Amino acid sequence: MSENQELNLVVLLGSLRKQSFHAAVAKSLQSVAPANTNITLLGSVGDIPHYNADVQADGFPAPVLEMAGAIKSADGVIVVTPEYNYSVPGVLKNALDWLSRLPDTPFAGKPVSLISGSPGPIAGARAQYHLRQIMVFLDALVFTKPEVMIGGINTKVDTEAGSITDEQTKAFINGHLTAFGSFVRRVSL
Ligand SMILES: Cc1cc2nc3c(=O)[nH]c(=O)nc-3n(C[C@H](O)[C@H](O)[C@H](O)COP(=O)(O)O)c2cc1C
Repeated sequence: MSENQELNLVVLLGSLRKQSFHAAVAKSLQSVAPANTNITLLGSVGDIPHYNADVQADGFPAPVLEMAGAIKSADGVIVVTPEYNYSVPGVLKNALDWLSRLPDTPFAGKPVSLISGSPGPIAGARAQYHLRQIMVFLDALVFTKPEVMIGGINTKVDTEAGSITDEQTKAFINGHLTAFGSFVRRVSL
């Protein structure tokens, strides 16, 4: 893939909260992205039922298939998530568990960027490292540097507008997405 080729990225959000700080970040990504980058949100992980092998035996639920299709046709995935009890929120893990059971898992060989945050100073770092570990078994290609961990996220976004208000955070995410874009173009066949 050439360096200026247009990229289509999708965003997987790990919060269901209406006033979610991470939802504001997720919605703002297109506005802070570099040129030639289209970013769209995937369906809500809240639409996916609890994983149950008996349900799987009757057929994968439609929201799982829809999400898998969108991930497959995207050039890369950006996961934006809070940290729950030092790890990944259950709703996000549940979605990943479903997606991992598909015979043709959509994460295999897929470039993935991780963005975490927290009102606290550790900025979701522990969740992000657990997520990185989970992604290993999904055969995803997880991008590393520069890492985005947004501490004090509650002071840096406008949840009504769905935007990032902190200029430094916007610039840092732009740098991350620029480097992620180069990574995607480099690893994509
Ligand atoms: C069940 C639960 C566990 C949490 N655990 C952590 C944690 O381990 N580390 C942390 O920084 N924040 C933790 N928080 C606080 C979240 O960072 C905070 O609620 C944040 O606003 C969630 O993101 P959202 O606004 O996008 O929904 C926890 C919140 C909940 C509800």
